[in-house]
Amino acid sequence: MLREVDVKGVRFRVADEGEGPVILFVHGFPLNYTMWEAQIAEFSRTHRVIAPDLRGFGGTDGALYSVSMEQFADDLADLLEALPVRVPVTFCGLSMGGYIGWQFVQRHPSRVSKLIICDSRAAADSPEAAANRLKMADIVLREGPEPVAWAMMPKLFAKCSDDHCPAIIAKVREMVMASNPVAIAAAHRGMAVRPDVTAWLPSLQLPTLIICGEHDAISPAAEMKSIAEQIPNAAFVQIPNAGHMAPMEQPELVNAAIRQFVG
Ligand code: MLT
Repeated sequence: MLREVDVKGVRFRVADEGEGPVILFVHGFPLNYTMWEAQIAEFSRTHRVIAPDLRGFGGTDGALYSVSMEQFADDLADLLEALPVRVPVTFCGLSMGGYIGWQFVQRHPSRVSKLIICDSRAAADSPEAAANRLKMADIVLREGPEPVAWAMMPKLFAKCSDDHCPAIIAKVREMVMASNPVAIAAAHRGMAVRPDVTAWLPSLQLPTLIICGEHDAISPAAEMKSIAEQIPNAAFVQIPNAGHMAPMEQPELVNAAIRQFVG
């Protein structure tokens, strides 16, 4: 069921399917909840699956000049309160969704029982990468999402010759192109100032699963494996024949890893 939920005056679009323990799926940049379609179909058989569009993206309002990862995390806590979901959830975020995940665990520890980070990083941007994001934020506001699609699309996927690949690439491009330029700029500005959370990793107590596409060009598998090694109770799963969009590129393998983790 696709719902519209008022969260402190902002209208959120949220997929809310199934019954049982809750898994919260948090999309990457600059996408929307539909990137999780394969996970929603699988896990709504056994869980309550909640997959929102983040502030300003997809069908959710509330775009701002800049949105920090802390703000996105607080939005999600407020969304759970509004639904209402009061039991601790499994938080599963991809890339920017993972940056938000670190903040969610830190700021709202009682709301999360398990953490899944897909194709993401703990490190902050280099000064050069942060400066590029600020430039891109201005460009997007002038020219729309096309320059972001042009810059990101070549980095998102592993080489793939299967029949389903063109459809997945087209779907991601469509999501990027449909995103609100104000939200894209705001998230770029927020990611540019996100903190390095590497020092937090050894203190994370909750069961954690780190998933990474073998050929991820944005958050490399070796870096993600090292993140898992620094978290006391973490497992690392590398997804073969996948890049940064592993949950879309290899949904069966990603679902199997999540299934084993959540039961
Ligand atoms: C994402 O997939 O969310 C982005 O690659 C995150 C980023 O730009 O760092």
